[in-house]
Amino acid sequence: MDTGPNRLIIDGFSCFFVKFSLSKFVWFDGKFVPSSKAQVPVTTHAIHYGTSIFEGIRAYWDSKNLFVFRLDDHIKRFRNSGKYYSISLNFSNKQVANAIINLCKKNKMKRSCYIRPFYFVGQYGINLHVTEKAPTNLAIFMFPFGDLFDKKGITAGISSWRKFSGSSTPTQAKMGGNYLNSIIATQESKRNGYDEAILLDKKGNLSEAPGENIFLVKNEELITPPLSSSALKGITRDTVFELAKDSGYEVSIREISRSELYVADEVFLSGTAAEITPIIRVDRQKVGTGKMGKITKELMSDYTDVVMNRNEKYSHWLSAVY
Ligand SMILES: Cc1ncc(COP(=O)(O)O)c(C=O)c1O
Repeated sequence: MDTGPNRLIIDGFSCFFVKFSLSKFVWFDGKFVPSSKAQVPVTTHAIHYGTSIFEGIRAYWDSKNLFVFRLDDHIKRFRNSGKYYSISLNFSNKQVANAIINLCKKNKMKRSCYIRPFYFVGQYGINLHVTEKAPTNLAIFMFPFGDLFDKKGITAGISSWRKFSGSSTPTQAKMGGNYLNSIIATQESKRNGYDEAILLDKKGNLSEAPGENIFLVKNEELITPPLSSSALKGITRDTVFELAKDSGYEVSIREISRSELYVADEVFLSGTAAEITPIIRVDRQKVGTGKMGKITKELMSDYTDVVMNRNEKYSHWLSAVY
């Protein structure tokens, strides 16, 4: 169990319960509200039907300032996710950005943290005909956050549950309802003793993990599945593209068969919460040497430099709070 000051408190090796200490204030429809008072009625539409849209954002404390990573990109995706279902975000992008920055200030946050903005259909009865006029609420909460996974490397198993495809629901909508697929795959992988699941798409090619994109490294080339394999257009995935380019690595976005996973030199996950996390075993078989690979290690270090404001080229991706 890791109880360091800037780390998650995780009960048990297999991380069944992830506890976090919510910051004192939540931003709720334009106001700062004490966390315990930020409540919704039981008739809230989103509780019944999953009509909520969310983002996961990280901010990094470098001992002088707190930097929110790729805030504008997260907010753009936040609004777009709602559009698939005509669910309105009734605040401008600027208002959402200010709310996030001001919430950090209000909570006097001086540690690296995770920020969760979400909007959801509120009082709309039991109506399935959701339109732009359906009332929505916007809330933001945050909590200090360290590593989601063991950064030395994790184990993963291929899920017997397939990633839902765009022929059922839009795969690019980061919506509550969509995450039931992630939850069931995670449950199965934990039962089987793995740290994380890997989902195949409906054709049997690699898609992604429950909350992360996946990359393979083979002969110094990075390979990741296309969005047509039902992978989310991850912001960390995009960051990896840039960092790989800077280091002179080729990145190829193409369908990846399951079998390629077992002969990859390196495999890693990318995501806001997971950052860059090596996978060192898949289905109990070693990936490469069974230890974090050289290119994964390099990208992890480059990623840390970017988020900690140590790479000027990407300082435009950081929004300083103080
Ligand atoms: C299903 C899924 N895939 C991939 C990702 C990684 O996306 P990002 O790097 O934007 O956090 C996430 C997290 O948002 C996710 O939920």
